[in-house]
Amino acid sequence: MSSKTLRTGIKAAFAHQRKSILLFILSWCCLVLYIFLPDHEEYKAELSQNSNHTAEVPPANFHLLVPASKPEPNLCKLILSAAVTGYPAPVLINWGKAFEDAQYVEGGSHLAKITGIHDYLSQLGPDEDESLVLLVDGFDVWMQLRPQTLIDRYFDINRRAQERLDHRLGHVAYNHGIRQEIVFGCQKRCWPWAFEDPPCYAAPESSLPGDIFGPQTDTSVEDEANPYVKYRPRYLNSGVGIGTVKAMRKLFKRAITLLETERNMGSDQYIFSHILGDQEVWREIVRRKTRGRLGEWSDGIFSRRPKIVFNEEHVKEVGAKAAEQEDQNLEFGLGLDYGSEIGLNTVFAEDDTAWLTWSNDSQLRAAEKTRGISPEASRIHDLAPDISQTIPPFGTSSSEDLPSWTPWRDVSLFTNVWTGTVPAIIHHNAHRDGRKALRETWWDRIWFQKYARGLYDAQMFEPIVPIARSGYDGATQREWWPSETGKGGARDGSGEATQERWVRFDDMCREYHEEIFRDGEGPWEAPIVQ
Ligand SMILES: *[C@@H]1O[C@H](CO)[C@@H](O)[C@H](O)[C@H]1NC(C)=O
Ligand SMILES: *[C@@H]1O[C@H](CO)[C@@H](O)[C@H](O)[C@H]1NC(C)=O
Repeated sequence: MSSKTLRTGIKAAFAHQRKSILLFILSWCCLVLYIFLPDHEEYKAELSQNSNHTAEVPPANFHLLVPASKPEPNLCKLILSAAVTGYPAPVLINWGKAFEDAQYVEGGSHLAKITGIHDYLSQLGPDEDESLVLLVDGFDVWMQLRPQTLIDRYFDINRRAQERLDHRLGHVAYNHGIRQEIVFGCQKRCWPWAFEDPPCYAAPESSLPGDIFGPQTDTSVEDEANPYVKYRPRYLNSGVGIGTVKAMRKLFKRAITLLETERNMGSDQYIFSHILGDQEVWREIVRRKTRGRLGEWSDGIFSRRPKIVFNEEHVKEVGAKAAEQEDQNLEFGLGLDYGSEIGLNTVFAEDDTAWLTWSNDSQLRAAEKTRGISPEASRIHDLAPDISQTIPPFGTSSSEDLPSWTPWRDVSLFTNVWTGTVPAIIHHNAHRDGRKALRETWWDRIWFQKYARGLYDAQMFEPIVPIARSGYDGATQREWWPSETGKGGARDGSGEATQERWVRFDDMCREYHEEIFRDGEGPWEAPIVQ
């Protein structure tokens, strides 16, 4: 199914180009030989070779990395949510470290996230190059959907991004190996950069429809509390990110270099946004170089040139910086989750979301009505198959007291009412008017909370099996195995994976049991696994 979509997409892109070529030749009756075709034929041949020679699906690893230095109720909620939705136990980055450097945000912990993850990735051997690594912040993230949904979306987002890249860059994308392999979260406001900086103006346009928030989409409206309410997310948020180990290694290596001169901001988001800005300017440089003047001119006529106006000073600077790099480029395979499919950042989207039970039509329509979404503009219809086709919410193998047969459409799901998307991960980074407190007030709204103890017990007995089977197509399909096989806690990632490095949930979260379980049953004790 997936390879078919990919090929249809690529065919459509070719068709579009052929039409442009024909028009061009006809109207200017001339000699221009379009340089595109040979490369594209090669590309197509390679793609068709790649499809379908997989008798069995090879295994690969999936790592969940969480920067967190100390126990905290919000970290316990993350660990519990990850376990009951089926993720591997997290590896804790910077566990036990103290962050007290007053000149940086949060005592420097955001910067240590970069060094800590960099160090962890460097320990992984080259055989882990194609493993996936999911990074999530420790103190404001909850997992909501199965890893199968998240991983399917990761491949699908990259596939769609590649279609846009191929359209914008043509054979340049292929020749320079420009392939999206990392997806970071996305938000409506560019921060902490300013609009004249590449991380803001050079960020690619959102891939969401131009009317997703109604006719006023992407305009500033008179809403003092939330002036970004109508904007489509377009800018990087660093709370959630996923990619291959290989691509992440390159990204974090670059981040470490920038850290030397950019510590003072104390913000990892500043650094990752910087890298994205540079990448986009670099892509523009190679696009121009390879297209040549004639190509530029024809692109202008057929509007294939990006609408973004690049600052020529930045083009010069980035060109010089790229030349200094070992591999002469600033390409990182970095892109964004425009639809908040992997993770939804609540900041600047405070009024876009609701807890919805999809089988309750009157509830769905009421949520739309209060936001002024007409029935014609509604994007909430059937629950996405990439959710409904996964193991049902309470479907465990030892589920005595759990409503095992309840389908996804009968549980409460945090939903973007405008896009109709249910994010796999919720990142509670909204802060205005005390919204950080939603990490407490909303905790019993998420589908698993009322059954938290039973579900957390049940997962202790689950066999270790792949968490998903997914890929771009038949040839890249993998069985994704959990990198951690321990249960009932997390691993301190600061050294070898030994028994001593296991951080038990019953130790770390004992103090917070009432906030987490809310059932008056006292601290959670690990059941004895026979
Ligand atoms: C690949 O194999 C699957 C399963 O055998 C089949 O359903 C699918 O049609 C094949 N795809 C291609 C492109 O041949
Ligand atoms: C559907 O939602 C409405 C509004 O939230 C609620 O009053 C009603 O009880 C719900 N119906 C069912 C069957 O849960």
